[in-house]
Amino acid sequence: MLVHITLLIGALLAGIQGQILQQFTQNPCDSRSTCHECIATPSCAWCYDTVNINTTKRCFQPSYPLPPLDKCDPSKIYNPDNEMIIISNRALSSRTEGEGGTLITEEEQTGGFGGGGGAGGGINQGGGAWESGGTITQVRPQRIKLKLRARQTYSVNMYYTQAEDYPVDLYYLMDLSKSMEDDKEKLSALGDHLAQTMRNMTSKFMLGFGSFVDKVVMPYVSTIPEKLRHPCTGCVAPYGFRNHMTLSTNTTSFSHMVKRASVSGNLDAPEGGFDAIMQAVVCREQIGWRDQARRLLVFSTDAGFHYAGDGKLGGIVKPNDGECHLDQRGYYTMSSKQDYPSISQINTYVKKNAINVIFAVTAEKKEIYEQLKEHIEGSSCGKLSNDSSNVVDLITEQYQAISSTVQMKHNASGSVKVRFFSKCLDSKGREIETNKCGNIKVGSLVQFRVQLEVVECPSDPRDTKQLIQIYPVGLNESLLIDLTMLCDCPCEHEGFERNSPKCHNHGTYMCGICDCIEPAYGPYCECNKDGTSANISTANCINPKNGLECSGRGNCICGKCECEQRNNPEEAISGELCQCDNFSCERHNGLICSGPEHGTCVCGVCECKEGWMGDNCACRNATNLCIKPDSEDPTLICSGNGECECGICKCRETDEGRYFGRFCEHCPFKNCSDDCEKYKECVQCQQYQTGNLTEEECRKCPFTPTSARVVEVDEKNGEVLCPFYDEDDCRFSFVYYFDEENKIQVRAQEERECPATVFLLGIVLGVIAAVVLLGMAILLLWKLFTTIHDRREFAKFEKEAMMARWDTGENPIYKQATSTFKNPTYAGKS
Ligand SMILES: *[C@@H]1O[C@H](CO)[C@@H](O)[C@H](O)[C@H]1NC(C)=O
Ligand SMILES: *[C@@H]1O[C@H](CO)[C@@H](O)[C@H](O)[C@H]1NC(C)=O
Ligand SMILES: *[C@@H]1O[C@H](CO)[C@@H](O)[C@H](O)[C@H]1NC(C)=O
Ligand SMILES: *[C@@H]1O[C@H](CO)[C@@H](O)[C@H](O)[C@H]1NC(C)=O
Ligand SMILES: *[C@@H]1O[C@H](CO)[C@@H](O)[C@H](O)[C@H]1NC(C)=O
Ligand SMILES: *[C@@H]1O[C@H](CO)[C@@H](O)[C@H](O)[C@H]1NC(C)=O
Ligand SMILES: *[C@@H]1O[C@H](CO)[C@@H](O)[C@H](O)[C@H]1NC(C)=O
Ligand SMILES: *[C@@H]1O[C@H](CO)[C@@H](O)[C@H](O)[C@H]1NC(C)=O
Ligand SMILES: *[C@@H]1O[C@H](CO)[C@@H](O)[C@H](O)[C@H]1NC(C)=O
Ligand SMILES: *[C@@H]1O[C@H](CO)[C@@H](O)[C@H](O)[C@H]1NC(C)=O
Ligand SMILES: *[C@@H]1O[C@H](CO)[C@@H](O)[C@H](O)[C@H]1NC(C)=O
Repeated sequence: MLVHITLLIGALLAGIQGQILQQFTQNPCDSRSTCHECIATPSCAWCYDTVNINTTKRCFQPSYPLPPLDKCDPSKIYNPDNEMIIISNRALSSRTEGEGGTLITEEEQTGGFGGGGGAGGGINQGGGAWESGGTITQVRPQRIKLKLRARQTYSVNMYYTQAEDYPVDLYYLMDLSKSMEDDKEKLSALGDHLAQTMRNMTSKFMLGFGSFVDKVVMPYVSTIPEKLRHPCTGCVAPYGFRNHMTLSTNTTSFSHMVKRASVSGNLDAPEGGFDAIMQAVVCREQIGWRDQARRLLVFSTDAGFHYAGDGKLGGIVKPNDGECHLDQRGYYTMSSKQDYPSISQINTYVKKNAINVIFAVTAEKKEIYEQLKEHIEGSSCGKLSNDSSNVVDLITEQYQAISSTVQMKHNASGSVKVRFFSKCLDSKGREIETNKCGNIKVGSLVQFRVQLEVVECPSDPRDTKQLIQIYPVGLNESLLIDLTMLCDCPCEHEGFERNSPKCHNHGTYMCGICDCIEPAYGPYCECNKDGTSANISTANCINPKNGLECSGRGNCICGKCECEQRNNPEEAISGELCQCDNFSCERHNGLICSGPEHGTCVCGVCECKEGWMGDNCACRNATNLCIKPDSEDPTLICSGNGECECGICKCRETDEGRYFGRFCEHCPFKNCSDDCEKYKECVQCQQYQTGNLTEEECRKCPFTPTSARVVEVDEKNGEVLCPFYDEDDCRFSFVYYFDEENKIQVRAQEERECPATVFLLGIVLGVIAAVVLLGMAILLLWKLFTTIHDRREFAKFEKEAMMARWDTGENPIYKQATSTFKNPTYAGKS
């Protein structure tokens, strides 16, 4: 139940939100006037129903069709959706089922394709499929068909796994100028070790060997005949590039070939390595690159390189054509006819042939090759010791690095944006935007989410079909996407009527609208340019105030503005340039011009009806409301002390305060008089039945006071307080004010406050009695004290009289003749 309510509320909110959005944001579909523009806008659909619908605005949001398009025949709405069909989805090759790493399960492999397309067979069991003549598959799916709307993203999941025992082709390309002599010796010695180490990693290992010097032209090589034959002692004639040994599994022949190759000599420091790389890359057959293998090209040198443009020094201007030119013996024939290739040429062919170039260079040259590797996809760079003794470690290290990472690339053109997202090997982690994952081991499965977006429809309709290749760098495997951008409408290609009468015979009627032929124009080609100026027609529609055509609220049709219709029938746009409307006036309490009774909205300004005024007609234009009813002068507005605004007095300010009261009739000075005296007697007779008005007069009073226990003044109402003492010395007060209808209103104190009558004789007698009593009490107290005192004195006297009787023998003035003294230091030894 609760769930139902929540859903209901949710749906309601969504509905309301949709409507609000619809009303307050510009609907992007509205401004699309042709079918293909409409389709190129996400979430818009085109109605080509010509039976029920007659409008030139046919682009709409199917989720919120506004009239008249809500009557469009659903079968005549063109709103194509993104679509994906899997064409090839062979299972990934894997031999590591049940071993560590991520297991490839059938579920994972097919997940994300919504069951579309036929998934290949299950996972190959035991030996790889290629052993039985099949192919190794490391990327899945292999080919899909996609139809995409513009500006909508679409995600495709693809998987990569590293197959175990994947073949490796290693072609060793060596600089054989004189300085590399020791390297050659070392390499020949290490040949077997290299082969064995690589074999440990893959059983399908092939090794090849080639060498290069430089172009045999001045100034690269000395062309003195003697030097041409033997440039240095023990050297052979120089050459551009030579393929000594095609890729082969016979690795003993590698050491042999390296040993047999002799060094040569040249003049300048940089060598012609680029020529060699180009030939080694493009001569697939001669070099013997296998279709399915990790292709490593080890480029070992201790010198820099010549590149495109350098050939001009030797008078070679023909650019490199990127073709294979090897003769039977494996020599490069175009060495002195074509220039060196450029870095980007090398990059292009390396990419195309999925080759990983490993630059094995000495420390001094490492820096330049580090920079070069940034510009050649899938290449890496390692430091070669000066005698090539570390070549095996270098190659295995680079190979490990290359094979443990996968980097996805694509060749989509500008109008298609491709982004890659992956969790790499952390299946519980967060998906991040990356096209590269590292630490891949044999059998681990990496998922990439490929997000495609047609950024904009290409201007040439032929470009709406694209073949996009998404591939891991350095591998001859890929996901091919046949992308069709949904950028045009079928109704624009079929069933159209040329010179249709619906278009005044001046245009083609298609998709429900007219495509006019110059100089006709207009929604039904009903307008005709007069030929003088193409701009005249629209120039008449421009509102000079804001520079917008029809003030942005209408269509310029044949030079005249046709203003938009509002969804709300209460609202209308008008005017030559649609500059006016009757809904953008000042409002009061939500009502335009305070409602139709007060005024009407004309071209953005309120026109008030009689009796009303102000910007929003909320003010009363009635000065009579500002005139005090019983005033002597019936034209005196606000008692002459203020101004009448909206029927309310705005009182004048003085140094001692502001005039107050509803009619500004009260002044702020001490000497001011008010009307208290005037109303006093009426209050007295009506409220307290006192005062000297006769009954007759009392009945004529202009008001009947209401009574209140305590009278308080409400200044806002313009109330005035009148306090009085009447003949009986009673205090009473009342307030008076004028109400909305200018009638006097009085609020009087309920009862008068009279002084209480007192009993005088009682007070006098009481005071006398109190004085007498007090006097008597004092007398009694005095008597008591004197009595006690007398008794004490008498007792004292008697006592003294007794003492006098015993002491008569001694004369008080008699002194004895002897005196006794004591020595204070004497210690009593008597
Ligand atoms: C469609 O409406 C326009 C304008 O109201 C009118 O000129 C035109 O003839 C109508 N077309 C059809 C096919 O009804
Ligand atoms: C090949 O691998 C084995 C065992 O894995 C090892 O004993 C041997 O030394 C390795 N050989 C080379 C050349 O690395
Ligand atoms: C390998 O090459 C060496 C030298 O070129 C040759 O003697 C040997 O027969 C070849 N081995 C195989 C199996 O072809
Ligand atoms: C890639 O492999 C396919 C066969 O799987 C082969 O037809 C194609 O020529 C190869 N491409 C390259 C550049 O090696
Ligand atoms: C090779 O390098 C070592 C030190 O790494 C150096 O002693 C030796 O002279 C160098 N040899 C050459 C031929 O440059
Ligand atoms: C991408 O590469 C594929 C295969 O190499 C190619 O057929 C296609 O034309 C390329 N696409 C673009 C847009 O260059
Ligand atoms: C026609 O309009 C365009 C762009 O609005 C402007 O560049 C051109 O000068 C105008 N031509 C005339 C004759 O006003
Ligand atoms: C605006 O004008 C339209 C058409 O004249 C009318 O129906 C509507 O009542 C007007 N609205 C107001 C608020 O005056
Ligand atoms: C107010 O009404 C008087 C006449 O009743 C008129 O003369 C005056 O122009 C009106 N003022 C406004 C602002 O409408
Ligand atoms: C009251 O006093 C003010 C200044 O305090 C003076 O302008 C005004 O004329 C006096 N009015 C009367 C009626 O005395
Ligand atoms: C009301 O009567 C008293 C005395 O009875 C007198 O002094 C006073 O002037 C009279 N007031 C009026 C307004 O007649």
